[in-house]
Amino acid sequence: MAKVIDLKTSIPGPRSQALGARRAQAVPRGVPATTPIAIVQADNAVVIDADGNRLIDFGGGIGVVNAGHRHPRIVEAVREQLEHFTHVCFPVSMYEPYITLAERLNRLTPGTHEKRTFFVNSGAEAVENAIKAARRFTGRQGIVCFEHAFHGRTYLGLTLTSKVNPYKLGFGPFMPEVYRIPFPYCYRCDSPSRGRGACCMADRAHLEHLFAAHVDPGSVAAVIIELEIGEGGFIPAPPEYVKVLAQFCRDHGIMLIADEIQTGFGRTGKLFACEHYGLVPDLITTAKSLAGGLPLAAVTGRADVLDAAQPGGLGGTYGGNPLACAAALAVLDAIEQEGLVEKGERVGARIRARFLEWQQRYPVIGDVRGLGAMMALELVKDRSTREPAKELTGRLQAEALKRGVILLSAGTLGNVVRVLVPLTVEDAVLEEGLGVMERSLREVSG
Ligand SMILES: Cc1ncc(COP(=O)(O)O)c(C=O)c1O
Repeated sequence: MAKVIDLKTSIPGPRSQALGARRAQAVPRGVPATTPIAIVQADNAVVIDADGNRLIDFGGGIGVVNAGHRHPRIVEAVREQLEHFTHVCFPVSMYEPYITLAERLNRLTPGTHEKRTFFVNSGAEAVENAIKAARRFTGRQGIVCFEHAFHGRTYLGLTLTSKVNPYKLGFGPFMPEVYRIPFPYCYRCDSPSRGRGACCMADRAHLEHLFAAHVDPGSVAAVIIELEIGEGGFIPAPPEYVKVLAQFCRDHGIMLIADEIQTGFGRTGKLFACEHYGLVPDLITTAKSLAGGLPLAAVTGRADVLDAAQPGGLGGTYGGNPLACAAALAVLDAIEQEGLVEKGERVGARIRARFLEWQQRYPVIGDVRGLGAMMALELVKDRSTREPAKELTGRLQAEALKRGVILLSAGTLGNVVRVLVPLTVEDAVLEEGLGVMERSLREVSG
C-alpha cells in the first residue's frame, strides 16, 4: 500500500497560517490550539488540511472517532435522519432513536439490573448530571474524586478535575463538598512495595484512613473514577484497588460512578473499561465516541437511582438531538457488526509491542502503559529519578506533526504521549504512523 502521508507544504502551510491569523483575532487564546493546521476533510484515520497536506490522525479528535472519521454508516444514518427532522426537543415530544439508543445502552453497559439512560450534550454535562442524580437519590452531598482526574470544564467538572494549569488556574472558587483522594499511579508510587506486583493502596485500611481524614462516608453521595485516567496521563487503576473501592462504596451506600467518557466504546479492548475489572458501577457517564463526532453524552445507571429525580429535574433543550442519536445507533451497529472491540484489542497489541520495543532503545521512555488501544508513553529525563520530560514531549509532538502525524499529549506533569487513533485504522496506516512516531522519538531524544 502506498504511503498515505503526503506533505505538499511545510506544516503549517500558508492557508492554515492565514486561518490561524484570523483565529487569533476572532477566538480567545484560552481555547487551546494543539496543532496550527486547519482541516478540510477527514476519512477514517486520515485528515487533509487546507494546504492539501495528508496526515495521519493519532488523536481521533481526542478519542471521539473510535469508529473512524466519517464512517459510511454514520454518514448515512445522519443523512437519513436529516430528511425527517433535526429537532423537536425530547422533553416536549419524544422520538424513537432516543428511546432505542437508551434501550441499547441499558443493555450494553455492565450489569443485568434494571437501568435507565438519558442524554445531554457533552461529557462535562453528563458528569454534572450523574452527580445530581446521586445526590438526589442518596440525600447526601459529599463527592469524592481523584488526583489526576479530568471531568470537564463546567464548574462542577472543573472542581472534580485535578490539573491546575491550564484547567483551573484563576477560575476559583470551586464547588463545596468535593473531596480529592490519591489515585493509584503505580509508576510514580513511592511505597517501598512499588513494583512488587500488588497495589499498596488496595487495602481497606488505606481507604478508611483517607475518609477518616477528609469526609464521613455516611455523608458521601458518590465516588467518581476514570478506570484508566485519561487527560491525567492514561493511568489504568490496578484491578485489586478497584475491587476494594467498590466494596467500600457498597458498604457505605455510596454511588460509584464510572466516567467512561474517554475509555468507552472499545478504546480499552472492551466495550467499557469496567469490564476489565468485573465492575458494575451504579452510574456510567459516556460521550466522545458514543456518536462518532456529533455532540452527545449519556448517563446510564440503576433505575432506582435515575428515577429518583422529579420530572423536569433532568434534561435540556438539545440533549439527545435526533441527528446525534441516529449517529450513535450507527456507531453501535459498526461496533457490533464490524467487530470493532476486537479490532481495538489488536490495534492496542500492535501499539504496545512497538512501545515496549522502543523502551529498550530510548531511555527517555520511563513507562509504557494502557489498556487495549488506550496506550501511552511517559517520558522522563532520567529513569532513576523519573523526572518528567515535559519539554521533550512537546518537541516529540511537534516533530511528529512536521512529519505528518497528529499526536496528543496528556498527564498532570505534561510528559505523556497518548494514542487515540481510530480503532478502524488500516494496518498499513497504523504502521506508517508508528514509524513516524519512532523517527520523531529518535530525533528528539538524540
Ligand atoms: C474522562 C472525561 N470526562 C469528562 C470529559 C469532559 O468531556 P467534554 O469535553 O465533552 O465536556 C472528558 C474530556 O476529555 C474526559 O476525558
